[in-house]
Amino acid sequence: MDIEAEIRALQLDSAEDNNDTLIPEDAKPEEVEMTDKVEEGMTDEVDTKSQPVQAEPKVKDKEVADMDCAEVPDEMESQKKRHLNVVFIGHVDAGKSTTGGQILFLSGQVDDRTIQKYEKEAKDKSRESWYMAYIMDTNEEERVKGKTVEVGRAQFETETTRFTILDAPGHKSYVPNMISGASQADIGVLVISARKGEFETGYERGGQTREHVQLAKTLGVSKLLVVVNKMDDHTVNWSKERYDEIESKMVPFLRSSGYNVKKDVQFLPISGLVGTNMKTRVDKNICPWWNGPCLFEALDSVEIPVRDPKGPYRMPVIDKFKDMGTVVMGKVESGSICEGDSLLVMPNKAPVKVLAVYCDEDKVRRAGPGENLRVRLSGIEEEDISSGFVLSSVVKPIPAVTEFTAQLQILELLENAIFTAGYKAVLHIHSVVEECEIVELLQQIDPKTKKPMKKKVLFVKNGAVVVCRIQVNSLICIEKFSDFPQLGRFTLRTEGKTIAVGKVTDLPSRSSA
Ligand code: GTP
Ligand code: MG
Repeated sequence: MDIEAEIRALQLDSAEDNNDTLIPEDAKPEEVEMTDKVEEGMTDEVDTKSQPVQAEPKVKDKEVADMDCAEVPDEMESQKKRHLNVVFIGHVDAGKSTTGGQILFLSGQVDDRTIQKYEKEAKDKSRESWYMAYIMDTNEEERVKGKTVEVGRAQFETETTRFTILDAPGHKSYVPNMISGASQADIGVLVISARKGEFETGYERGGQTREHVQLAKTLGVSKLLVVVNKMDDHTVNWSKERYDEIESKMVPFLRSSGYNVKKDVQFLPISGLVGTNMKTRVDKNICPWWNGPCLFEALDSVEIPVRDPKGPYRMPVIDKFKDMGTVVMGKVESGSICEGDSLLVMPNKAPVKVLAVYCDEDKVRRAGPGENLRVRLSGIEEEDISSGFVLSSVVKPIPAVTEFTAQLQILELLENAIFTAGYKAVLHIHSVVEECEIVELLQQIDPKTKKPMKKKVLFVKNGAVVVCRIQVNSLICIEKFSDFPQLGRFTLRTEGKTIAVGKVTDLPSRSSA
């Protein structure tokens, strides 16, 4: 069965709600409409027995504060460059860290002395060619094994844009870390190795080239730059045939994963290790056939997804620590934040005051959606916050639920497994990681007609699209996909494998305050 074709059914409709209006070029309008009907039809099925939180805001003046904040003139606004979060994804050893490190070197963030030091260290560990990766792979385990474990984070700037690089691990054991990186990103750089045999392993079923693409789409990475890397390798030697082969195999796969290949995907050849076609275009003596842009040009010209600075504030917490108060880290998904704001930490409805806002290293008075921030709060202890909590507007707090309805696309179940009520998995939705159980399968969707099937559904197999009720043990903060795509799409994983992607179609009716 062609699973990729099926995934499209789910991600097709994800496109139409998304603020980037991503619709695969061959999407038929009736397919999109159909899914809406499915969603409408499901509203009645919502179980109201679960215990949603009624947020009772203690601070009532926030509406005014929200508006004030969005209108505070930012003294630096006019000079400020746009900001983009870029996640580097792809199969293990494709060259993500090397390319990320090279970007930092070429943009002047790392000096020659440091590179020489890394060259020596890499040589001592018998990993000569890994020295560029050491810029991103900063801990000992990563350097010894030559594999990224934690998502590396770094900043660099071009003429027009401030970038935050998130260097995800490619190894399959660390997919949860990759998910956390991708959930913070606006666009992705998919790194593919052109070296003989390496493209093939990454692209195989079970290879992370496929898994990462599917996850990235689900997690809201709306645009992809596909860099065909290691073009300098002696098995490739800047061969146009090899480049074309990789592009021609990737295009149908990307399309079936829900990407509009013409509008939202761009391919280019590079050598991350040598730094070719990165800051400046590749020399015609090396690659006479490439007439397109270099990586920096491509990054510079990516369009930023439209974001609403006046929407209700939503910042999922990815980390927290103590530092003269409680500091939370995360990416603003909606709304703006200002020093002095009153907000709620959800799901525990804790009213907090914003003492300071930091964007990268800079303290700022206000920040809008898309920014990665550190926010110092008063009114809450660090131990009362966990990653997955959401710093939220008081007037419109994020719903907190223990149960929701979702449309799921089953990718590949573990061998011999069937997907039925009682199935348990790990749910990843924005920065939430939580055990969940499928409590009821409601309807199966016919992948051909996109209509709900009439007969009662008791179990489904690989490739199925199914609407079901999902339960978690403790309250989680999520949104309906149609309201906030970034906070309403998720993945289910079992025993280290992504088995399904989904979107939240309904929440219990009393879940929003
Ligand atoms: P994980 O973090 O483990 O997923 O790997 P990664 O994608 O970050 O790959 P990494 O940058 O660690 O590079 C893996 C190996 O590929 C190293 O030996 C690099 O030197 C090599 N490599 C990366 N880019 C290039 C390139 O452009 N050309 C050549 N010849 N080798 C490269
Ligand atoms: Mg790496």
